Amino acid sequence: MAESPTPQTAFGRHTPFAARLLENRRLNQRGSTKDTRHIVIELGSAGPTYTCGDALGVVPRNPEPLVSEFIATLGLQNDAALHETIATSAVLNRVRKNFVRAVAEKAVGPAQQRFQDICADDKKFDHYIFDRDVIDVLRDAPGVHFEPADIPGLLNTIAPRLYSIASSPDHRPGEAHLTVALVQYTSHGRRKQGLASGYLADLADQSSVPVYVQPTRHFHLPPPDRDMIMVGPGTGVAPFRAFLQHRAIHGHSGRNWLLFGDQHAKTDFLYGEEFLAAQKSRLLHKLSTAFSRDQADKIYVQHRMEEEGAELYRWLDEGAFFYVCGDAKRMAKDVHASLVTIVAKHGGKSPGQADEWVSEALMKHEKRYLRDVY
Ligand SMILES: Cc1cc2nc3c(=O)[nH]c(=O)nc-3n(C[C@H](O)[C@H](O)[C@H](O)COP(=O)(O)OP(=O)(O)OC[C@H]3O[C@@H](n4cnc5c(N)ncnc54)[C@H](O)[C@@H]3O)c2cc1C
Ligand SMILES: NC(=O)c1ccc[n+]([C@@H]2O[C@H](COP(=O)([O-])OP(=O)(O)OC[C@H]3O[C@@H](n4cnc5c(N)ncnc54)[C@H](OP(=O)(O)O)[C@@H]3O)[C@@H](O)[C@H]2O)c1
Repeated sequence: MAESPTPQTAFGRHTPFAARLLENRRLNQRGSTKDTRHIVIELGSAGPTYTCGDALGVVPRNPEPLVSEFIATLGLQNDAALHETIATSAVLNRVRKNFVRAVAEKAVGPAQQRFQDICADDKKFDHYIFDRDVIDVLRDAPGVHFEPADIPGLLNTIAPRLYSIASSPDHRPGEAHLTVALVQYTSHGRRKQGLASGYLADLADQSSVPVYVQPTRHFHLPPPDRDMIMVGPGTGVAPFRAFLQHRAIHGHSGRNWLLFGDQHAKTDFLYGEEFLAAQKSRLLHKLSTAFSRDQADKIYVQHRMEEEGAELYRWLDEGAFFYVCGDAKRMAKDVHASLVTIVAKHGGKSPGQADEWVSEALMKHEKRYLRDVY
């Protein structure tokens, strides 16, 4: 049976459910440059419910050491109420121009001139704030002091982040699984983490996690007897793990084709064992992988699509649904272009006709080209 949409619940970004973290496991093997986590959240019977294709909203907080360092750098008393307010409300890992301008006004000595130069030149200003956090800025202006009441106006307010749910609600009822790529980098001599991915990656088992379900408007499973092609490199694979679990549990008869890509086969084949087992059991009728850095030239999912263009077009022509999830900036655009190329080549269409068929027929009218990209 096709799933019905998730009903709206009392839980939302301002009224999250206090869930529990059951598992936090690295999916990449030793030697990988990436750190992608399998996160299991317990929603239980009191928490929000979801359907495949939905996302989980996570309300993050700042890491405790960063909050303490911020308070100490400002020369403030680290009392519990101030600590909690800053931990839960102010973005510390990025700065906005208002904050830098306020620091500039209070800077003294050589820092004063330097900050005036930065603030007066848009390019320099953009460059300055690109990879600095609040501590980097305050270290550039020793002795600058703000009152606690000034802080909310100077820093961005923490907003929740969404993560595609990587499990079927019927797989382990009461749980939601996530696939989270940890954002991490070093700049100005200090290690930085993404606010929410860092928060999740640092969580210990049994910690409380504020969450809510963000229902998808369009990214649903196809009818049970229809074929589906799923293009999900990197963390884009998350909803497809859920789709496959659901189809297995409910015995959907449609065929399933997964195209997955990441850097290295040895270290970055996320859920590789599960997908290979699904291929063996014929839940997955086709599994195409593109490991981009296992050879001199980059191989991406769209290259695998084009290599298997004749078969991909055949599936589409027979009514398959085409799903794309993951990076919006480059991947989704390139996959779209390859899809048009394939339809032109194997469907005997001109480039214009192919583009129209993909964008108008497949995407708009028949609604069987579905994307969840970020
Ligand atoms: C519908 C939807 C579904 C999603 N599903 C998933 C999912 O399944 N898995 C997943 O991992 N993510 C997913 N995301 C993305 C996720 O919501 C977050 O955006 C992501 O985890 C980053 O958030 P963060 O708070 O960790 O990082 P932030 O604190 O927001 O920091 C990210 C920012 O850090 C900066 N940055 C990164 N690297 C550098 C660098 N080297 N130098 C300087 N600055 C840098 C960039 O400005 C970047 O925008 C999804 C998003 C949406 C909208
Ligand atoms: N700031 C950074 O430098 C950085 C780095 C990685 C990820 N990210 C971000 O972190 C998040 C999570 O990333 P992720 O783990 O889901 O993986 P990802 O970065 O999307 O990468 C998954 C796979 O897609 C490949 N890829 C890169 N460009 C592509 C394109 N145009 N078309 C098709 N495939 C392409 C990657 O190859 P290659 O990596 O070999 O090109 C990799 O093999 C994303 O939001 C991403 O934008 C940022």
